[in-house]
Amino acid sequence: MKKFYLTTPLYYPNARPHVGNSYTTMVCDAIARYKRLCGYDVAFLTGTDEHGEKLQRAAVEAGVSPPEFVASKRDLFYSLWKKLNISYSHFIYTDRADHTTSVQRMLLRARANGYIDKRRYEGRYCVSDERYISDGTEPANCDICGRPAELISEENYFFRLSAFQERLLGLYEKHPEFVQPDFRRNEVMSFVKGGLRDISVSRKRIKWGIPWPDDPEQVFYVWYDALTGYMTGVGFAEGENGSAEFQKYWPADIHMVGKDIIRFHAVYWPAFLMAAELPLPRTVFAHGWLTVGADKMSKSKGNVVYCEPIVEAIGADALRYYLMRDIPFGQDSSFTYEGLIQRYNSDLANDLGNLANRAITMLNRYFDGRVPSTLEPLGVGSRFPFLAVANGAKTGYERHFEGYELSKGLEDVWRLIGTVNQYLNDLQPWAIADDPSKRALLANVLCTAYEALGFVAVLAHPFIPESMQKLWEQLGQKGRVEDFRVEDLVWANVSAGTSVGKPEAIFPRLDKEPTLRKLAELAEADRARSDVKPKEAKTTVEAPAEQKISIEDFAKVEMRVGEVKSAEPVQGAQKLMKLAVDIGSEVRQVVAGIAEYYKPEQLIGMKVVIVTNLQPRKLRGVESNGMVVAATVGEEGRPVLVTFKEDVPNGARLK
Ligand code: MSP
Repeated sequence: MKKFYLTTPLYYPNARPHVGNSYTTMVCDAIARYKRLCGYDVAFLTGTDEHGEKLQRAAVEAGVSPPEFVASKRDLFYSLWKKLNISYSHFIYTDRADHTTSVQRMLLRARANGYIDKRRYEGRYCVSDERYISDGTEPANCDICGRPAELISEENYFFRLSAFQERLLGLYEKHPEFVQPDFRRNEVMSFVKGGLRDISVSRKRIKWGIPWPDDPEQVFYVWYDALTGYMTGVGFAEGENGSAEFQKYWPADIHMVGKDIIRFHAVYWPAFLMAAELPLPRTVFAHGWLTVGADKMSKSKGNVVYCEPIVEAIGADALRYYLMRDIPFGQDSSFTYEGLIQRYNSDLANDLGNLANRAITMLNRYFDGRVPSTLEPLGVGSRFPFLAVANGAKTGYERHFEGYELSKGLEDVWRLIGTVNQYLNDLQPWAIADDPSKRALLANVLCTAYEALGFVAVLAHPFIPESMQKLWEQLGQKGRVEDFRVEDLVWANVSAGTSVGKPEAIFPRLDKEPTLRKLAELAEADRARSDVKPKEAKTTVEAPAEQKISIEDFAKVEMRVGEVKSAEPVQGAQKLMKLAVDIGSEVRQVVAGIAEYYKPEQLIGMKVVIVTNLQPRKLRGVESNGMVVAATVGEEGRPVLVTFKEDVPNGARLK
């Protein structure tokens, strides 16, 4: 059997996944399902990239040990992938024991081939993107995310990337499919032509990583570690040369990535593999970003949209369909709730939903719920012209999928839906239903619609698996639509007599305004839930020395004495209390998660400490303009407000 191995990036589990980074996983899922439909033995890997400075810091901030922190966040990925019906076959998390073997094995091979040596590194490092910015002090900011990059100086092990410049250029020329789309390949090529510098692949000052084989002071650079995860996930660590599964699946057929991480995949990764004399992946495909307005959707921009409320309100398929239909794959595209609802109503509820509903209702009504026989010769209502339409949709769809033009693949399927809807409108089967002389025509018209729906269920299921399974069942088909093979999808192959199910709306129409309101409410509740402060640390970790902050950093946090003037619970939020706090210069509205432990009357008149220079944010729709400082106590994380024994004036600054 032909194999196909595809991967998503391994996500940093420093936060929960949002629509922006889940997009890659949804796209990969559609491709994996399509390849299975074509009869491939598919390995579909996703996972989490758990080491490095960014994760170490996030764990320290949350007050838990790094392994505990990443394990708890990893669960968020498992559960979201389940909600989105992601059919991955392998999940690699890089804190897994066998991954250490893989990474060290790669390194030992590269070192034996003379590509590793020890040098001093002095330059800038961006913690957010986990990348080296320059060998000197300039530029001071990361050229990808724009954040200030830190100056570091340490002895590291270096990978001789410069030795691979010619071989990489040869690869891009000989195998243009290696980097896609084409315009990305051009970018990568001009970067490589500009000259490659050797890169440091170990870190001394952080502890959270895979230990260097024979130098306990160093851990691996997180990208060397993470990229190797694509091989560990299918068994590279087993035996001398990887497991039988590894031999079967490696090299990967495609690494699907966002455009921001193309260099790591299209330049570093093939060089790391060449150095270890391992086969290279066939394709690295970089897609664009989901934006909100002009900005990339990202946690640091504060504009993320989460998937869960959308799944709850209108289902995973609605989200999957919208993202894959509306975004020309490879380009940036803006996410809007209006766009989501609009697509749902026009394409799913109207075009596909109505076709399914009309056809199944009429089969029930006029043919006792059975697919009629259509042996008689046919005139105007003949279903045979549809052979060309249906086959055209199928071949266009296959061609577009092979080129990863997913939205065009969907257009092919919807063209078939549109043609059949038009055909029903033209022939009006409901108008001839009572005329016995038109029985053959009626049978043909309904058979055509039935057959087209079978095509649609099979071809659209990689995108919208849950609802196409429902359609499949309504069409009276047995088993799982995902077990069907595209080669068996031939027109005029319907078994007369098949019993169809009852028509049930697969995509009920959405009223725009109420749906927008519901989505906003669910999103707000979801955000408030995920804003809950971490519980008291079960394990205390010693912040490494470099995690200590300077007095200047501390001075950035402005804390002032405030007096609570009024307090009232936030409606519909058990934990939240809305406070009006006099901080000397003004009265601030602050929302705090203390309602389960404090009564309003206890709070009024109390002197508290307020962080006054936080950006305002909304909790359950109520704006909070600051934060009340509290100790977190006990297993349940009970908040105990900080207050004063002596009288202090409102507005006094804490230092
Ligand atoms: N851990 C690295 C990848 C290592 S792969 C061996 C990483 N992780 S990430 O969590 O920051 O990003 C994962 C993927 O999500 C990237 O491909 C990134 O492009 C993608 N996206 C994050 N935000 C996105 C959007 N707003 N839109 C589309 N993709 C987005 O990088």
